[in-house]
Amino acid sequence: MSALGAELEALLAAARAVREHAYAPYSAFRVGAALRAENGQIFVGCNVENASYGATICAERAAILAMVAAGQRLIGSLAVFTDAETLAMPCGLCRQVISEFQRDAQLLVANPRQHRVLSFADIFPEPFVLDR
Ligand code: THU
Repeated sequence: MSALGAELEALLAAARAVREHAYAPYSAFRVGAALRAENGQIFVGCNVENASYGATICAERAAILAMVAAGQRLIGSLAVFTDAETLAMPCGLCRQVISEFQRDAQLLVANPRQHRVLSFADIFPEPFVLDR
């Protein structure tokens, strides 16, 4: 695993820690997300499942909601941590929500064994934009 800079290491640690709070009794798939906003503040989120399944909130969107509620609107970097064998990428719904609050965000996806650093634009190049 190549060394991450101090800022991404801190984000990864935050994502890993918040994953412990994931509420995932239905899938048993626990996800932690941490993002660094433009002002340097870190916001975290974990997945929160629901008996209805459809009302489940992903970790990435939970972190974004916390950021917006705190008055921030620009994601600088976002880390997603799972324990899955395959690195888990943000789902399509989360990609669309991330796209609303980013310009050139860095994305770190990690599990205890490996990580990848990507440009968000590379995994979601053409978001829906409401341009009336
Ligand atoms: N999940 C996330 O938290 N983030 C994603 O990007 C994809 C999926 C959660 C939702 C659900 O609780 C569990 O992972 C299995 O889909």
